Amino acid sequence: MKTLNQLVRKNILDLSPYSSARDEFSGSAEILLDANENPFGIYNRYPDPYQKQVKLEWAALKNIHPDRIFIGNGSDEAIDLLFRIFCEPGKDKALTFAPTYGMYKVSAQINDVTWIELPLDDSYQINYGQFAPYCGDEHLKLVFICSPNNPTGNAMDRKTLIQILENFQGMVVIDEAYIDFSEEESCLTLLQTYPNLVVLQTLSKAWGQAGLRIGFAFAQEEVIRFFNKVKPPYNVSTANQSIALRSLKDYNSFIKTRKVILAERKRLKETLSQISNVETIFPSEANFLLIRFKNASFIYHTLVQKNIIVRDRSAQIKNTLRITIGTPAENNKLIQTLQQIAL
Ligand SMILES: Cc1ncc(COP(=O)(O)O)c(C=O)c1O
Repeated sequence: MKTLNQLVRKNILDLSPYSSARDEFSGSAEILLDANENPFGIYNRYPDPYQKQVKLEWAALKNIHPDRIFIGNGSDEAIDLLFRIFCEPGKDKALTFAPTYGMYKVSAQINDVTWIELPLDDSYQINYGQFAPYCGDEHLKLVFICSPNNPTGNAMDRKTLIQILENFQGMVVIDEAYIDFSEEESCLTLLQTYPNLVVLQTLSKAWGQAGLRIGFAFAQEEVIRFFNKVKPPYNVSTANQSIALRSLKDYNSFIKTRKVILAERKRLKETLSQISNVETIFPSEANFLLIRFKNASFIYHTLVQKNIIVRDRSAQIKNTLRITIGTPAENNKLIQTLQQIAL
Protein backbone atom coordinates (compact mmCIF):
# COMPACT_ATOMS: atom_id res chain seq x y z
CA MET A 1 0.00 0.00 0.00
CA LYS A 2 1.00 3.64 -0.28
CA THR A 3 2.00 5.38 2.95
CA LEU A 4 -0.69 7.21 4.91
CA ASN A 5 1.12 10.44 4.07
CA GLN A 6 0.46 9.70 0.40
CA LEU A 7 -3.13 8.62 0.93
CA VAL A 8 -4.55 11.13 3.41
CA ARG A 9 -5.75 14.49 2.07
CA LYS A 10 -3.15 17.19 2.55
CA ASN A 11 -5.52 19.54 4.39
CA ILE A 12 -6.27 16.71 6.85
CA LEU A 13 -2.58 15.91 7.32
CA ASP A 14 -2.04 19.59 8.14
CA LEU A 15 -5.19 20.02 10.21
CA SER A 16 -4.94 21.15 13.83
CA PRO A 17 -8.02 19.49 15.28
CA TYR A 18 -10.41 21.27 17.63
CA SER A 19 -9.19 20.84 21.15
CA SER A 20 -12.13 20.41 23.51
CA ALA A 21 -12.15 21.11 27.24
CA ARG A 22 -12.30 17.33 27.76
CA ASP A 23 -9.18 16.93 25.61
CA GLU A 24 -7.25 19.30 27.80
CA PHE A 25 -8.45 17.91 31.13
CA SER A 26 -9.98 14.45 31.30
CA GLY A 27 -9.39 13.36 34.90
CA SER A 28 -11.80 13.75 37.79
CA ALA A 29 -11.88 17.02 39.72
CA GLU A 30 -14.01 18.57 42.41
CA ILE A 31 -14.94 21.63 40.41
CA LEU A 32 -15.24 21.72 36.62
CA LEU A 33 -15.48 25.25 35.28
CA ASP A 34 -13.70 24.67 31.98
CA ALA A 35 -16.36 23.80 29.39
CA ASN A 36 -19.14 26.37 29.86
CA GLU A 37 -21.43 23.58 31.01
CA ASN A 38 -24.43 24.20 33.24
CA PRO A 39 -23.59 23.08 36.81
CA PHE A 40 -27.18 21.74 37.26
CA GLY A 41 -28.78 18.68 35.69
CA ILE A 42 -28.12 15.03 34.86
CA TYR A 43 -26.70 15.31 31.35
CA ASN A 44 -25.11 18.70 32.02
CA ARG A 45 -21.57 17.50 31.28
CA TYR A 46 -20.12 16.91 27.84
CA PRO A 47 -19.53 13.24 27.03
CA ASP A 48 -16.18 11.50 26.90
CA PRO A 49 -15.03 12.43 23.35
CA TYR A 50 -13.18 9.11 22.98
CA GLN A 51 -15.79 6.81 24.59
CA LYS A 52 -13.09 5.04 26.60
CA GLN A 53 -15.38 2.79 28.64
CA VAL A 54 -17.28 1.52 25.61
CA LYS A 55 -14.02 0.97 23.73
CA LEU A 56 -12.53 -1.02 26.62
CA GLU A 57 -15.56 -3.30 26.72
CA TRP A 58 -15.68 -3.71 22.94
CA ALA A 59 -11.89 -4.23 22.78
CA ALA A 60 -12.16 -7.07 25.30
CA LEU A 61 -15.01 -8.69 23.37
CA LYS A 62 -13.17 -8.41 20.06
CA ASN A 63 -9.69 -9.10 21.42
CA ILE A 64 -8.29 -5.94 19.90
CA HIS A 65 -6.42 -2.93 21.32
CA PRO A 66 -8.77 -0.01 22.17
CA ASP A 67 -6.48 2.37 20.23
CA ARG A 68 -7.48 0.52 17.07
CA ILE A 69 -11.15 1.40 17.53
CA PHE A 70 -13.12 4.45 16.40
CA ILE A 71 -16.71 4.86 17.58
CA GLY A 72 -19.07 6.80 15.37
CA ASN A 73 -22.66 7.99 15.44
CA GLY A 74 -23.55 4.77 13.61
CA SER A 75 -21.16 3.22 11.12
CA ASP A 76 -22.62 5.68 8.61
CA GLU A 77 -20.54 8.34 10.36
CA ALA A 78 -17.39 6.25 9.90
CA ILE A 79 -18.23 5.87 6.18
CA ASP A 80 -18.55 9.64 5.77
CA LEU A 81 -15.33 10.30 7.71
CA LEU A 82 -13.40 7.89 5.48
CA PHE A 83 -14.27 10.08 2.48
CA ARG A 84 -13.32 13.22 4.38
CA ILE A 85 -9.98 11.76 5.48
CA PHE A 86 -8.86 10.17 2.24
CA CYS A 87 -10.66 11.69 -0.75
CA GLU A 88 -9.90 15.06 -2.27
CA PRO A 89 -13.29 16.44 -3.46
CA GLY A 90 -13.51 16.81 -7.22
CA LYS A 91 -10.32 14.79 -7.73
CA ASP A 92 -10.29 11.40 -5.99
CA LYS A 93 -12.33 8.25 -6.57
CA ALA A 94 -13.87 5.42 -4.58
CA LEU A 95 -15.17 2.06 -5.76
CA THR A 96 -17.57 -0.67 -4.74
CA PHE A 97 -19.08 -3.88 -6.04
CA ALA A 98 -22.79 -3.60 -6.79
CA PRO A 99 -25.47 -4.22 -5.79
CA THR A 100 -24.56 -3.21 -2.27
CA TYR A 101 -25.38 -0.87 0.61
CA GLY A 102 -26.47 2.47 -0.86
CA MET A 103 -24.87 4.77 1.69
CA TYR A 104 -21.34 4.41 0.26
CA LYS A 105 -22.45 6.04 -2.98
CA VAL A 106 -24.44 8.78 -1.23
CA SER A 107 -21.45 9.62 0.99
CA ALA A 108 -19.20 9.70 -2.09
CA GLN A 109 -21.58 12.09 -3.81
CA ILE A 110 -21.93 14.33 -0.74
CA ASN A 111 -18.13 14.55 -0.64
CA ASP A 112 -17.86 15.14 -4.42
CA VAL A 113 -15.88 11.95 -4.95
CA THR A 114 -16.07 10.09 -8.29
CA TRP A 115 -17.95 6.86 -7.73
CA ILE A 116 -17.13 3.60 -9.53
CA GLU A 117 -19.34 0.51 -9.36
CA LEU A 118 -18.20 -2.88 -10.64
CA PRO A 119 -20.90 -5.55 -10.90
CA LEU A 120 -20.77 -8.59 -8.63
CA ASP A 121 -20.84 -11.83 -10.62
CA ASP A 122 -23.81 -14.20 -10.96
CA SER A 123 -23.13 -15.63 -7.48
CA TYR A 124 -22.81 -12.09 -6.11
CA GLN A 125 -19.07 -12.51 -5.64
CA ILE A 126 -16.28 -10.12 -6.62
CA ASN A 127 -14.65 -10.72 -10.00
CA TYR A 128 -11.04 -9.93 -9.12
CA GLY A 129 -9.96 -9.85 -12.78
CA GLN A 130 -12.36 -6.98 -13.37
CA PHE A 131 -10.99 -5.09 -10.37
CA ALA A 132 -7.28 -5.69 -11.02
CA PRO A 133 -6.79 -2.83 -13.55
CA TYR A 134 -7.98 -0.35 -10.89
CA CYS A 135 -5.18 -1.30 -8.45
CA GLY A 136 -2.80 1.18 -10.03
CA ASP A 137 -5.22 4.15 -10.26
CA GLU A 138 -3.52 6.81 -8.17
CA HIS A 139 -6.76 8.71 -7.55
CA LEU A 140 -8.64 5.64 -6.35
CA LYS A 141 -8.40 5.95 -2.57
CA LEU A 142 -11.14 3.75 -1.12
CA VAL A 143 -12.67 0.39 -1.97
CA PHE A 144 -15.86 -0.51 -0.09
CA ILE A 145 -16.78 -4.18 0.30
CA CYS A 146 -19.87 -5.22 2.20
CA SER A 147 -19.56 -8.73 3.63
CA PRO A 148 -22.07 -10.21 4.30
CA ASN A 149 -23.50 -8.05 1.57
CA ASN A 150 -26.65 -5.98 1.77
CA PRO A 151 -28.98 -6.72 -0.07
CA THR A 152 -27.75 -10.07 -1.44
CA GLY A 153 -26.99 -11.61 1.99
CA ASN A 154 -23.86 -13.59 1.01
CA ALA A 155 -20.36 -13.22 2.44
CA MET A 156 -17.52 -12.40 0.05
CA ASP A 157 -14.87 -14.99 -0.72
CA ARG A 158 -12.02 -14.45 1.75
CA LYS A 159 -9.27 -15.26 -0.77
CA THR A 160 -10.52 -12.48 -3.03
CA LEU A 161 -10.61 -10.04 -0.11
CA ILE A 162 -6.99 -10.90 0.64
CA GLN A 163 -6.05 -10.50 -3.03
CA ILE A 164 -7.52 -6.99 -2.98
CA LEU A 165 -5.80 -6.15 0.32
CA GLU A 166 -2.48 -7.32 -1.08
CA ASN A 167 -2.66 -5.55 -4.42
CA PHE A 168 -4.65 -2.36 -3.96
CA GLN A 169 -2.58 0.70 -3.05
CA GLY A 170 -5.36 2.53 -1.18
CA MET A 171 -7.62 1.70 1.76
CA VAL A 172 -9.92 -1.33 1.74
CA VAL A 173 -13.07 -0.90 3.83
CA ILE A 174 -14.83 -4.14 4.75
CA ASP A 175 -18.28 -3.44 6.15
CA GLU A 176 -19.22 -6.24 8.55
CA ALA A 177 -22.55 -4.83 9.74
CA TYR A 178 -24.04 -8.35 9.49
CA ILE A 179 -21.02 -10.44 10.50
CA ASP A 180 -22.62 -11.73 13.72
CA PHE A 181 -25.22 -13.58 11.65
CA SER A 182 -22.57 -15.26 9.52
CA GLU A 183 -20.53 -18.43 9.80
CA GLU A 184 -17.61 -16.60 8.18
CA GLU A 185 -14.68 -15.46 10.26
CA SER A 186 -14.50 -11.67 10.74
CA CYS A 187 -11.78 -9.79 8.84
CA LEU A 188 -10.65 -8.30 12.16
CA THR A 189 -8.08 -11.10 12.23
CA LEU A 190 -6.49 -9.56 9.11
CA LEU A 191 -5.90 -6.14 10.69
CA GLN A 192 -2.48 -7.09 12.01
CA THR A 193 -1.30 -8.12 8.54
CA TYR A 194 -2.85 -5.43 6.34
CA PRO A 195 -2.31 -1.79 7.36
CA ASN A 196 -4.67 -0.66 4.57
CA LEU A 197 -7.67 -2.47 6.09
CA VAL A 198 -10.58 -0.75 7.82
CA VAL A 199 -13.31 -3.01 9.24
CA LEU A 200 -16.73 -1.57 10.06
CA GLN A 201 -19.11 -3.10 12.59
CA THR A 202 -22.19 -1.79 14.35
CA LEU A 203 -24.52 -2.22 17.32
CA SER A 204 -27.47 -1.68 14.96
CA LYS A 205 -28.00 -5.27 13.82
CA ALA A 206 -27.20 -8.34 15.96
CA TRP A 207 -26.90 -6.16 19.08
CA GLY A 208 -30.39 -4.75 18.51
CA GLN A 209 -29.45 -1.11 19.09
CA ALA A 210 -30.15 0.66 15.79
CA GLY A 211 -31.76 3.53 17.71
CA LEU A 212 -28.56 4.20 19.66
CA ARG A 213 -26.45 5.04 16.62
CA ILE A 214 -23.21 3.34 17.62
CA GLY A 215 -20.88 2.06 14.92
CA PHE A 216 -17.25 1.01 14.97
CA ALA A 217 -14.28 1.32 12.65
CA PHE A 218 -11.26 -0.88 13.36
CA ALA A 219 -7.94 0.03 11.78
CA GLN A 220 -4.29 0.58 12.50
CA GLU A 221 -3.70 3.20 15.21
CA GLU A 222 -2.48 5.87 12.77
CA VAL A 223 -5.74 5.64 10.80
CA ILE A 224 -7.79 5.85 14.00
CA ARG A 225 -5.86 9.02 14.86
CA PHE A 226 -7.12 10.57 11.63
CA PHE A 227 -10.70 9.57 12.48
CA ASN A 228 -10.28 11.30 15.84
CA LYS A 229 -8.82 14.37 14.19
CA VAL A 230 -11.74 14.80 11.79
CA LYS A 231 -14.76 13.70 13.86
CA PRO A 232 -17.02 16.19 15.68
CA PRO A 233 -15.55 16.40 19.21
CA TYR A 234 -18.56 14.94 21.07
CA ASN A 235 -19.99 12.63 18.42
CA VAL A 236 -21.51 10.04 20.79
CA SER A 237 -23.76 11.29 23.61
CA THR A 238 -23.29 10.36 27.27
CA ALA A 239 -26.69 8.63 27.30
CA ASN A 240 -25.81 6.55 24.25
CA GLN A 241 -22.40 5.62 25.64
CA SER A 242 -23.93 4.37 28.88
CA ILE A 243 -26.70 2.38 27.18
CA ALA A 244 -24.13 0.87 24.78
CA LEU A 245 -21.94 -0.10 27.72
CA ARG A 246 -24.88 -1.76 29.46
CA SER A 247 -25.81 -3.72 26.37
CA LEU A 248 -22.23 -4.86 25.72
CA LYS A 249 -22.04 -6.19 29.28
CA ASP A 250 -25.27 -8.12 28.68
CA TYR A 251 -23.66 -10.60 26.30
CA ASN A 252 -26.23 -13.28 27.16
CA SER A 253 -29.08 -11.26 25.64
CA PHE A 254 -27.05 -10.79 22.48
CA ILE A 255 -26.48 -14.55 22.21
CA LYS A 256 -30.12 -15.35 23.01
CA THR A 257 -31.71 -12.99 20.49
CA ARG A 258 -29.19 -13.87 17.79
CA LYS A 259 -30.07 -17.54 18.25
CA VAL A 260 -33.77 -16.78 17.75
CA ILE A 261 -33.06 -14.71 14.63
CA LEU A 262 -30.88 -17.46 13.12
CA ALA A 263 -33.50 -20.13 13.84
CA GLU A 264 -36.21 -17.91 12.37
CA ARG A 265 -34.11 -17.26 9.27
CA LYS A 266 -33.92 -21.01 8.68
CA ARG A 267 -37.64 -21.52 9.36
CA LEU A 268 -38.68 -18.61 7.12
CA LYS A 269 -36.48 -19.88 4.32
CA GLU A 270 -37.91 -23.39 4.54
CA THR A 271 -41.52 -22.24 4.80
CA LEU A 272 -41.43 -19.50 2.20
CA SER A 273 -39.74 -21.74 -0.34
CA GLN A 274 -43.01 -23.76 -0.40
CA ILE A 275 -45.03 -20.75 -1.56
CA SER A 276 -45.92 -20.88 -5.25
CA ASN A 277 -44.99 -17.33 -6.26
CA VAL A 278 -41.59 -17.50 -4.54
CA GLU A 279 -38.99 -18.19 -7.23
CA THR A 280 -35.65 -18.04 -5.40
CA ILE A 281 -34.54 -17.46 -1.85
CA PHE A 282 -30.92 -16.39 -1.95
CA PRO A 283 -28.51 -17.90 0.62
CA SER A 284 -28.26 -15.49 3.56
CA GLU A 285 -25.58 -14.88 6.17
CA ALA A 286 -27.46 -11.84 7.47
CA ASN A 287 -30.70 -11.04 9.33
CA PHE A 288 -32.70 -10.79 6.13
CA LEU A 289 -33.67 -12.89 3.15
CA LEU A 290 -33.53 -11.65 -0.42
CA ILE A 291 -36.37 -13.33 -2.27
CA ARG A 292 -37.21 -13.34 -5.96
CA PHE A 293 -40.95 -13.46 -6.54
CA LYS A 294 -42.87 -13.96 -9.76
CA ASN A 295 -44.26 -10.43 -9.32
CA ALA A 296 -42.37 -8.58 -6.56
CA SER A 297 -44.12 -5.25 -7.04
CA PHE A 298 -47.58 -6.80 -6.63
CA ILE A 299 -46.44 -8.70 -3.50
CA TYR A 300 -44.84 -5.56 -2.08
CA HIS A 301 -47.98 -3.44 -2.47
CA THR A 302 -50.26 -6.18 -1.18
CA LEU A 303 -48.07 -6.57 1.92
CA VAL A 304 -48.20 -2.79 2.48
CA GLN A 305 -52.01 -2.95 2.38
CA LYS A 306 -51.80 -5.65 5.06
CA ASN A 307 -49.55 -3.44 7.18
CA ILE A 308 -46.38 -5.42 6.53
CA ILE A 309 -43.49 -3.38 5.19
CA VAL A 310 -40.58 -5.04 3.42
CA ARG A 311 -37.99 -3.54 1.08
CA ASP A 312 -38.48 -3.69 -2.67
CA ARG A 313 -35.00 -4.23 -4.14
CA SER A 314 -36.24 -4.84 -7.70
CA ALA A 315 -34.38 -1.78 -9.01
CA GLN A 316 -31.13 -3.50 -8.04
CA ILE A 317 -32.05 -7.16 -8.61
CA LYS A 318 -35.10 -7.89 -10.73
CA ASN A 319 -38.29 -8.95 -8.92
CA THR A 320 -36.75 -9.15 -5.46
CA LEU A 321 -37.89 -8.17 -2.01
CA ARG A 322 -35.56 -7.96 0.98
CA ILE A 323 -37.33 -9.23 4.07
CA THR A 324 -35.87 -8.66 7.53
CA ILE A 325 -36.21 -11.53 10.01
CA GLY A 326 -38.74 -10.43 12.64
CA THR A 327 -40.01 -12.00 15.85
CA PRO A 328 -41.58 -15.48 15.53
CA ALA A 329 -45.05 -13.87 15.72
CA GLU A 330 -44.21 -11.29 13.05
CA ASN A 331 -42.78 -13.99 10.83
CA ASN A 332 -45.92 -16.12 11.28
CA LYS A 333 -48.04 -13.19 10.15
CA LEU A 334 -45.78 -12.67 7.13
CA ILE A 335 -45.95 -16.37 6.20
CA GLN A 336 -49.76 -16.46 6.54
CA THR A 337 -50.15 -13.32 4.46
CA LEU A 338 -47.84 -14.54 1.70
CA GLN A 339 -49.68 -17.87 1.65
CA GLN A 340 -53.01 -16.04 1.27
CA ILE A 341 -51.65 -13.85 -1.54
CA ALA A 342 -50.47 -16.98 -3.36
CA LEU A 343 -53.93 -18.61 -3.28
C1 LIG B 1 -24.05 -2.83 5.21
C2 LIG B 1 -24.48 -1.78 6.15
N1 LIG B 1 -23.56 -1.00 6.71
C3 LIG B 1 -23.90 -0.03 7.57
C4 LIG B 1 -25.23 0.19 7.89
C5 LIG B 1 -25.57 1.31 8.82
O1 LIG B 1 -25.15 1.00 10.08
P1 LIG B 1 -25.33 2.02 11.28
O2 LIG B 1 -26.71 1.85 11.79
O3 LIG B 1 -24.28 1.59 12.25
O4 LIG B 1 -25.08 3.40 10.74
C6 LIG B 1 -26.23 -0.59 7.32
C7 LIG B 1 -27.63 -0.36 7.64
O5 LIG B 1 -28.55 -0.93 7.14
C8 LIG B 1 -25.83 -1.60 6.44
O6 LIG B 1 -26.74 -2.39 5.85
